[in-house]
Amino acid sequence: MKHKLEGFFKPKSIAVVGASNDSRKIGHAALKNIIISDYQCKVYPINPKEKYILGLKCYKKIGDVPGSIDLVLISVPAPIVPQILRECVEKKVKYVIIISSGFGEVGNHALENELKEIIKHSNIRVLGPNVMGYKNASDGLDASFVFGNPRKGNVALISQSGALGIGMIYLANKEFMGVSKIIGVGNKIDIDDDDLIDYFAEDPETKVIGLYIESVKDGRSFMNSIKKCDKPVLVVKAGRSKAGARATASHTGSMAGSDKIYSAAIKQAGGIRCRDIVELFDMARALAGQPPAKGNRIGIITNGGGLGILLTDACEANGLTVPKLSKTTYRKIDKILPDLVKPNNPVDLVADAGFVRYEAATKILLEDPNIDGIIVASVHGGYARPREYTAAILKMVREQKLHEAYQKPILATWVGGREFEDLVWDLKSAGVPIYPSSWRTARSMMALYLEGQRLEKEKKEIKR
Ligand code: ACO
Repeated sequence: MKHKLEGFFKPKSIAVVGASNDSRKIGHAALKNIIISDYQCKVYPINPKEKYILGLKCYKKIGDVPGSIDLVLISVPAPIVPQILRECVEKKVKYVIIISSGFGEVGNHALENELKEIIKHSNIRVLGPNVMGYKNASDGLDASFVFGNPRKGNVALISQSGALGIGMIYLANKEFMGVSKIIGVGNKIDIDDDDLIDYFAEDPETKVIGLYIESVKDGRSFMNSIKKCDKPVLVVKAGRSKAGARATASHTGSMAGSDKIYSAAIKQAGGIRCRDIVELFDMARALAGQPPAKGNRIGIITNGGGLGILLTDACEANGLTVPKLSKTTYRKIDKILPDLVKPNNPVDLVADAGFVRYEAATKILLEDPNIDGIIVASVHGGYARPREYTAAILKMVREQKLHEAYQKPILATWVGGREFEDLVWDLKSAGVPIYPSSWRTARSMMALYLEGQRLEKEKKEIKR
């Protein structure tokens, strides 16, 4: 039986083959990251030339390490990797991460096949080759050679591209998006996206799963994993165009496959296809921070008519509706608006709207059974009070968590300059999904609606 992935993310002992005293080398960075992790485990550098690396006793080969090894990171040139992998199998190592490049992605399929052959009849699980490794923010372990750590949170990220995976760490921090684990899968000779989806589906630290893929090894198994998963799965599938598919072949040595089939299959399995990484992060922030929408009826609150219309168009273009207000809600909104303004959806609070109007309007829409999700928008025009807008949203998001009846999503949109950015920072750091574009907001609301639909379908299937 192949080992399950639980121990892969929580190893009790780790060895780094190709660890080096030369700080410019990847094997040095990988060892250092493990040592400085806030994580307790035994660590063994492996290098035939050295006695000590970074203060730790160094071993000439895997076989010399006393006791068992759960995880081995390999960072030696590709031609030496098969020999090291054989030693790992012999030592009964459970998990291996092959950082080294120089396999299928550069057309060296024979060497990649040799690795597959070595592990074929063993229990060992292998990530890579051609990977950065992983960062387990939930438990504080950095098993990668990459500098920098994501904030701890509940979005798991899987990337077939190493460099993009690294970029995602920094983008996640910039967006204040907390991450549970981030992992590069590279050439996927063994551990594949479906294994990781299955693992993250059970991982209590993960609420949302996001993937960047260029190809999958076994389409049926990939779709089954998404279908089985009781958490939202967001997928960026690259290689949509002919030229993109050609670029895919030269990047990870894989075939992009029919784009239309991917789209249909991901949708049918209950996953959400995202156009790019920024959209994946937008949707992940919404799904991680807000409840799903039980229906597609959206209430929009704004202090600028133009932004309200753009949001309405974007909602309608993405399968959402912006219905007329019910009589009860109309009357309630009418009471909070200045005399000359009439209630509508979008609810235009007009340019000088402050805390009181924003708070009251949000509360009224939260209480309206005909509204399933709320977008609160602000344009930083002449009379606008962005600080009060922010305070009102923060208050309503706090209240939303306290009342069962308020379990509908609140997303925020803003248009403005640098003076608004500090406030956006405050909202993001409090976990409130806020976006600088009507389209991005509507797409994220669409994701919350699709998640609501998925959960509803699942409930019906369980009842049957
Ligand atoms: N066992 C243990 N250590 C060994 C062995 C062995 N059998 N043989 C050699 N070593 C040592 C070397 O002596 C060296 O240590 P030293 O610095 O003390 O001399 C160390 O292992 C590393 O070997 P080098 O030959 O110096 O290789 P180098 O570190 O330059 O490169 C690497 C190895 C990083 C794996 C390189 O071949 C490679 O593949 N680079 C690309 C990696 C990559 O980008 N992966 C994808 C990541 S994702 C992304 O795209 C960002």
